[in-house]
Amino acid sequence: MTGGAGYIGSHTVVELSLAGFHPIILDDFSNSNRSVLDGIERILGTRPETMEVDCRSHKALSAAFQSITARHAISGVIHFAAYKAVGESTKHPLKYYTNNVGSTSELLQTMGEFEVANLVFSSSCTVYGQPDSIPVDEKAPIAMAESPYGYTKQVCERIIRDVHASNQPLNTALLRYFNPIGAHPSSHIGELPLGHPNNLIPFLTQATAGLRDPLTVFGDDYPTEDGTCIRDYIHVVDLAKAHVAALNWLASRSEACEAFNLGTGQGNSVLEVIHSFERVNGVEVPHRIGPRRDGDITAIFADPAKAGTAFDWSCEKSLDDALRDAWNWQRALQS
Ligand code: UFG
Repeated sequence: MTGGAGYIGSHTVVELSLAGFHPIILDDFSNSNRSVLDGIERILGTRPETMEVDCRSHKALSAAFQSITARHAISGVIHFAAYKAVGESTKHPLKYYTNNVGSTSELLQTMGEFEVANLVFSSSCTVYGQPDSIPVDEKAPIAMAESPYGYTKQVCERIIRDVHASNQPLNTALLRYFNPIGAHPSSHIGELPLGHPNNLIPFLTQATAGLRDPLTVFGDDYPTEDGTCIRDYIHVVDLAKAHVAALNWLASRSEACEAFNLGTGQGNSVLEVIHSFERVNGVEVPHRIGPRRDGDITAIFADPAKAGTAFDWSCEKSLDDALRDAWNWQRALQS
C-alpha cells in the first residue's frame, strides 16, 4: 500500500488486516506522521509492516518489491501515495506532477517487472468536474480539470488505461472517492492534516475546538436549497472497506480496468453538515458566511450502484456517525 500511512491508507490497513490480508505500508512520511503506526497497532494489537519508500524512486520501489516478493506473493497494490491539496497544486504544479504522476508511472513499471497485475488506484470524483446531472455515475464525461491536482488524477487514470491496453498484464479498479470524512470509531486513527486544513471537516473540528478562527462557509448564494454547496460525505471506514472489496473483486478477474464511484449516494450541504455536527455532538460550531471559493462545484454526489453490485459493498455508516467520530478524534488528539 503506497501512502499507507495516510488518512485513507491507515483505515484501509486496519480493514485489510481484519479481513485476513497482510498489508505492507510503503510511505515516505512526507505528508503523514509515524504516530499513525502506533494508532494502527492499538487497534490491531500488532504493528503494521512498514517500509520507508519514496515512490518516485524506481530503485527504492524495486528494492521494496524485491524484499516483499522474497517472502510473500503480492495479491495486489493499492496506490494511495499522492499529494491532494487543490489550492497548493495551483501554486506548486510541478510538485504535483512529479509526485502524483511520477510515482504512478514508476509504480506501474515496477509492477510490470515483478509481474504484479492487481492494482487499486485512488482516484477522485474531481475527474467529473461540475457534472451535468446528479447523482453522477461512471459514464459521466470527464471534465476539463479545475486544478493541477485534479489533472494528475485524470492523467494517472489515463496512464493506467494505456498500460492496461498494452502488453503488460494489469488488472485495475480506479476508485473515485467522493468526500471521505470521519475517523476510526476507536479514535486511535483519523485525519492528521499537517498545517492549515483545507477540507471542511478538519477545519470545522479544529475551529470548534478553539484551535482556529471560526469556520468560513464558502458562499451561501449557490442555486441549492440553503445556498451552500452539496457534497457526498462518506465515512472513511466505509471507504476503507470498499478497498478490501475491490481487491477481492480483482482476484476474481484477470483483465479488468474499470472505474467505480465510492460515495453514499446522498448529498448534504455545508450548512446541513454544520447543523448535524452541532446536534450530534452537542457543541456549537463557530462559523460565518464568506465569499465563494474559486473552483468549487455547486453540487455533486455519487451513484454508487456499480461498486455496490460488483463489490457487494455498501455504506454502513451515516453522516451522524462520521461527524461523531470526527469530533471524538479531534478530542482524542488534544487529550
Ligand atoms: N468548505 C467551506 N469552508 C471550509 C472548507 C470547505 O465552506 O473551510 C466547503 C467547500 O466550499 C465545499 C465543501 O465544504 O462546498 C467541501 O469542501 P472540501 O474542501 O472538504 O472538499 P471538496 O469537495 O472541495 O474537495 C474534495 C477533495 C478533493 C477532491 C474534490 C473533488 O478534498 O481532493 O473533493 O470534488 F478533488
